[in-house]
Amino acid sequence: MTYRVVQWTTGNVGRQSVAAIVVNPGLELVGCYAWSPEKDGRDVGELCGLAPVGVKATRDVDALLALRPDCVVYNPMWPSTDELVRILEAGVNVVTTAAFINGRRLGADRARLVEAGERGGASIFGTGVNPGFAEWVAITIAGISDRVDKLTVTESAYTMGYDSPDTEKVAGFGRPIDDPALQEMTADGTGVFGEAVAMVADALGVELDAVVCEAEYAKTNEDLDLGSWRIEAGCVAGIAGRWQGRIGDRTVVELGFRWKKAPVLEPDWQIQDGWVIEVQGRPTVTSTVQFAPPPDFEAETLADFMVLGHIMTAMPAVNAIPAVVAAPPGIVSYPDLPVPLPRGLVRG
Ligand SMILES: NC(=O)c1ccc[n+]([C@@H]2O[C@H](COP(=O)([O-])OP(=O)(O)OC[C@H]3O[C@@H](n4cnc5c(N)ncnc54)[C@H](OP(=O)(O)O)[C@@H]3O)[C@@H](O)[C@H]2O)c1
Repeated sequence: MTYRVVQWTTGNVGRQSVAAIVVNPGLELVGCYAWSPEKDGRDVGELCGLAPVGVKATRDVDALLALRPDCVVYNPMWPSTDELVRILEAGVNVVTTAAFINGRRLGADRARLVEAGERGGASIFGTGVNPGFAEWVAITIAGISDRVDKLTVTESAYTMGYDSPDTEKVAGFGRPIDDPALQEMTADGTGVFGEAVAMVADALGVELDAVVCEAEYAKTNEDLDLGSWRIEAGCVAGIAGRWQGRIGDRTVVELGFRWKKAPVLEPDWQIQDGWVIEVQGRPTVTSTVQFAPPPDFEAETLADFMVLGHIMTAMPAVNAIPAVVAAPPGIVSYPDLPVPLPRGLVRG
């Protein structure tokens, strides 16, 4: 079966979704939504730095839904519940990286998504590299122990090559280091990690009493030029956060991140690019996941190297398309799906 796919936006992640879809024999790109008016009517391949693919981006949502795609790959900067409801009730499944794992923090909007999926007979699945795939790896690793005391995923990364200032500023980047609103901003701006804590708890089959976020901050002592935006001296250029799922006063799930926007900050935290996954239990299992470019990878700038991060964000969603299309209507997450297989990726 070939799955008919509509791509939603062509930003950092969306461009890599398109690159993966157009070479995958199991997927057919049939349409693409453009958020930016200047992308309307342009060839999607061209928008993604590829050869023309013969599909033009459009802002006409009705026309895209009339194509009766099997799935939308939804990669906008911000998710819109209204937009997602419209897609789901048209009977089109959604795989997304846009701040969505299971919608647990969305309140009434979550119910709207479930109802829209049920009306349309479609499902929505949220993932990404982290949160998303990293927690799925951790859940898989936990299957080797006969007792699990605590599951921890810690990401640490230099993120100066990641150019999505609007999604970073809301977490506290660029704010004065003594801004009293910082903790609240980080909890809000990284709230999707709280959804991932809940997903891990679902996979472990435990009920959490609380999901909480704590963070520390590092400042830059010089003005930082990040290309599309700047962080002034004395402002936040590093965030080390932890989302914890607790049963009573015991932390059972901890998802941490340490992101730095410059090599040297105060305090000067260590960065080991990648994730450390630790399942404390019997036995305790520790795994380090690191990433490297293949020999044929052409990169001159830091932004070029960030493409690897965008690929890793896009692919868990793209690879899940067959499982999500087959899934029952509503919101589905890793614990609900069969293992999404990396099909169509081995090239001749
Ligand atoms: N879980 C993870 O591991 C992970 C990692 C990285 C990113 N993400 C998430 O994945 C999504 C895409 O990230 P990205 O880096 O590709 O984002 P991005 O490049 O900053 O923006 C993606 C696209 O969103 C559209 N857009 C611009 N302003 C918008 C607005 N105000 N509201 C809605 N859409 C807008 C544009 O579409 P057009 O191209 O059509 O103009 C833009 O190209 C984001 O939600 C991000 O938080 C998740």
